[in-house]
Amino acid sequence: MPMDLIPAPRNTRGAGRPGFAPDRDTTITAAPGTENTARWLRTTLGAAFGLPLAPRAGSATGADGAAGPGSAPGAESTTRAGNTVELLIDPDLEPEGYRLSVTPGHGIRVTGGSAAGVFWGAQTLRQLLGPEAFRHAPVSAEPDLELPALEIEDGPRFSWRGLMLDVSRHFMPKDDVLRYLDLLAAHKLNVFHFHLTDDQGWRVEIKRHPRLTEVGSWRSRTKYGHRASELWDETPYGGYYTQDDIREIVAYAAERHISVVPEIDIPGHSQAAISAYPELGNTDVIDTTTLSVWDTWGINPNVLAPTDSTLRFFEGVFEEILELFPATTSPFIHVGGDECLKDQWRKSPTAQARIAELGVAGEDGLQAWFIGHFDTWLTERGRRLIGWDEILEGGLPQGAAVSSWRGYAGGVAAAEAGHDVVMCPEQHVYLDHRQHGGPDEPMPIGFIRTLEDVYRFEPVPPGLSEEAARHILGTQANVWTEVMQNRARVDYQVFPRLAAFAEVAWSALPASADRDFTEFERRMTTHYARLDALGVDYRPPGGPLPRQQRPGILGRPLEGPPPNV
Ligand code: ACM
Repeated sequence: MPMDLIPAPRNTRGAGRPGFAPDRDTTITAAPGTENTARWLRTTLGAAFGLPLAPRAGSATGADGAAGPGSAPGAESTTRAGNTVELLIDPDLEPEGYRLSVTPGHGIRVTGGSAAGVFWGAQTLRQLLGPEAFRHAPVSAEPDLELPALEIEDGPRFSWRGLMLDVSRHFMPKDDVLRYLDLLAAHKLNVFHFHLTDDQGWRVEIKRHPRLTEVGSWRSRTKYGHRASELWDETPYGGYYTQDDIREIVAYAAERHISVVPEIDIPGHSQAAISAYPELGNTDVIDTTTLSVWDTWGINPNVLAPTDSTLRFFEGVFEEILELFPATTSPFIHVGGDECLKDQWRKSPTAQARIAELGVAGEDGLQAWFIGHFDTWLTERGRRLIGWDEILEGGLPQGAAVSSWRGYAGGVAAAEAGHDVVMCPEQHVYLDHRQHGGPDEPMPIGFIRTLEDVYRFEPVPPGLSEEAARHILGTQANVWTEVMQNRARVDYQVFPRLAAFAEVAWSALPASADRDFTEFERRMTTHYARLDALGVDYRPPGGPLPRQQRPGILGRPLEGPPPNV
């Protein structure tokens, strides 16, 4: 069975035979704190191979009430000595690091620096068991489960390894979001940035402002293709997550050691909110009662009015957001802050009076005041604000963090100024951008970013001082869904590039030019079989399958600068 681990681990020793093969008698011993990984092993490997993976009698899993079928007390009497998967925590290891050993006669031991480390070690174990380990039910009567005798020592390069998913432009139903959390976990990614609001739809239920979803989650039609496309899908479109949907998503992520970063995008990208509550807009500039949820793509001039009542409204929104996304798993709250056009504020007597009253430097100062207000508000409640790199314009409070999307420059400036930074430059890791220059790419937009380009992405900008480099928390790939109507289109854009991205975020790779892409591609041969077993609709190395193409639907021509969609 080829190992071909992705992301590549730090150190592997051994890999000889005889090794160890789990069977129907294999039990799990889970130290306190690792019960979630025991549960996860049972529901994934247990289902894939029809193994009970019962808790070993007297082990912590016996008490967590989550035992699977075949876990009757006394199971130990039928087990042979050492036929066990042992899950342990050793706080001397780095928090997300782990050691995985397979020893003939002793079974499998996963020791993590924390519960998260144990979970990442379990992900490695699943990969070692072959592509069938990624299926929901057994496909072989007698699968070859023999693992080689080995010891793997591993741990991540970055603590922030993320994916941002835009569920506003196109809504992703809750079950598909849960599936994406599983896909993140399978790649040892630990941050899910959930872009919940935008001009084209508000996707989270807010009890005190019900029109945000009653009105703001629906649009009458949708542009089909790039902004310049003449095609429309005339079907009314929408959807949102109820508060219980969100709680389920957050708990599912937590069980997988994934932090969820909810984004409520203010003060721009707010037309859906304004269409639900017209008083949120610049009513002294336009008649905001005429606005509806936006049905096309681009940067929208209808931004929030910088008034006290707007601040109070969004404090109410964030109060519910903080309740839905607890501090333990969502220390960061994203407030957007990107692409806030200032034309309406320039024309608005109310906005101009506010600028004068605050004594701030023009409209940029007003945006900084807006963001600064929520930085204080979130900090007082034990959270940290993060926003797109535009929040640097006009000044940013010290504790705030920055998602650097317009290239490296914003991130460099932020890190040099002492802000924590997540690197996600659009030139490198916007997975909505085309992955090939050929004519068959479906609705292609943006830069060409091949699998190799993503593999060679370096999150820490060259030339950054050592002190500033410590502020690079990590990196995330971003997925904007204007041209992705459904899960299959999202899969196509995200995979296989997310596998390369995961290795960039996790593994200690050499400098970009020295990375061995040929060797990565060789490992990808096995990884494609894992993705097949998972049912991921990735872009095949040879190009899109006929059903993945979208002939006749306009993308963005390659000539000229790659602008917004
Ligand atoms: C962004 O791509 N507007 C953050």
